[in-house]
Amino acid sequence: MTAYFNGRFMEKDEIRISPDDRGFLFSDSLYEVIRHYPGLLFRPEAHIRRLNHGAAHLRLACRDFSHLIPVARDLIRQNHLADQDALVYIQVTRGTAPRNHPFPDPASEPTVYICVSCFDPAVKDRQRKTGIHAITVPDIRWARCDMKTTGLTANVLACQQAAENKAGEAIFVRDGVLLEGTHSSFMAVFDDTVITAPLSNYILGGITRETVLDLCRDLDIRVLQEPVYESRIHLASELMVTGTTTEITPITTLNTRPVGNGKPGPVAKALQAAFASKIQQLQKQAPWFSPMKKGENSLKLSETP
Ligand code: PDD
Repeated sequence: MTAYFNGRFMEKDEIRISPDDRGFLFSDSLYEVIRHYPGLLFRPEAHIRRLNHGAAHLRLACRDFSHLIPVARDLIRQNHLADQDALVYIQVTRGTAPRNHPFPDPASEPTVYICVSCFDPAVKDRQRKTGIHAITVPDIRWARCDMKTTGLTANVLACQQAAENKAGEAIFVRDGVLLEGTHSSFMAVFDDTVITAPLSNYILGGITRETVLDLCRDLDIRVLQEPVYESRIHLASELMVTGTTTEITPITTLNTRPVGNGKPGPVAKALQAAFASKIQQLQKQAPWFSPMKKGENSLKLSETP
């Protein structure tokens, strides 16, 4: 696979990251996962907006990564994935410097890494149809979950706990409020109204969450961005998680208790259908990428800072 590392396209296996990289030493780093549908990179500008938000708050030397969008598209083409389902992974770190907690002075150049991979949607498709089991876990994460940092230890532990309980996702609960999943946003339906936690430092502003809330408005589904309380969760008719790889996946059992009638509900199904037609519509509008030969870059390296 061809990947991108600090301004160069190169074989992924040949990339060498320094042990002094602050991403490795401190998780002083940010990431994004962008979905590619055949012919369509899904909302890359929104992902870069979120990456830039994190970069500004981490005070990285670079705070605008919009130049990475054509790089991501190029990688899709170079790896012959233009007509396939794929994922783009972007990671930027504060850069490399001898281990010391304060920022390096002078500031280090951020390390920038992008790779792409094939994405087989079959498992996720099945989960979307049948729904998943989920568990709740105490939210032991830090208080800046709005930044997509690679410090994901709490998410990894919670997701592993879910897997060990044969659940597809774990939902973080802080102060009695269900906030989000380990790698997804969380929504509940009460009386035909979709309720999801308001944007704050305690959740990631999910790109799929944003898309789904727009679709709710298109479908005249009432939305409230309010806390979803654990004490009332048994009254929800539907629960769901949303995310780049998850899209819209119903939760049919929470902590072994069935949600509603234990089957994917009408709101989730309507949103899934609307999401699928939105993708189809965007695919029709997207310019079809002409496949490129391996090693043939449409960007000159001098154009990629
Ligand atoms: N995770 N909340 C958390 C904690 C997440 O990690 C994610 C995505 C989301 C959903 O965001 P979006 O709709 O923008 O994908 C919410 C990615 C997919 C991951 O960690 O792999």
